[in-house]
Amino acid sequence: MRAIYLTGFMGAGKTTVGRRLGEVLGVPVIDTDTYIEQQTGKTIAQIFSEEGEETFRAYEREILRQLPTEHVIVTTGGGIVIQEENRQFMRAHGIVIYLHCELHELFRRLADDATRPLIMKNKQEQIKKLFEQRLPWYKEAHMTIDTTNRTVDDIVQSIVFML
Ligand code: S3P
Repeated sequence: MRAIYLTGFMGAGKTTVGRRLGEVLGVPVIDTDTYIEQQTGKTIAQIFSEEGEETFRAYEREILRQLPTEHVIVTTGGGIVIQEENRQFMRAHGIVIYLHCELHELFRRLADDATRPLIMKNKQEQIKKLFEQRLPWYKEAHMTIDTTNRTVDDIVQSIVFML
């Protein structure tokens, strides 16, 4: 089985859906953010504040290429699609599934979030701007699954059905 890459905005449910999909398919799941944290010994928030976003994006690009591309589910950080070479890499090496979530629902899910460096200030305005900028990149995925108002099991079932 080729790698499955789950993409989508922060709060779209990539990590939760990825874990459940991994259980259902019996495939290991690797999360790019967790992998970066393990490799650097820092949290994502620390990397952003101490080394800056550019460095974080370089780690992201680098580790995407280090991960296996067979028999794996890779759950990605919401900004993985910013770099064109990442979008190309994922499309070339596996199946890219975009987990879409409507903005009003993202506002709700991210409202109390204090761990994601990119949405600590100007929440709704910031989220909307990033979301609209990234949407065309997310849509380059092989498949899109709407996660708005759906349970994890329902989303996973749709993915399994479409694979
Ligand atoms: C980011 C999303 C985060 C994390 C970092 C940057 C982004 O991952 O990679 O804070 O640019 O959208 P999640 O999408 O898992 O929150």
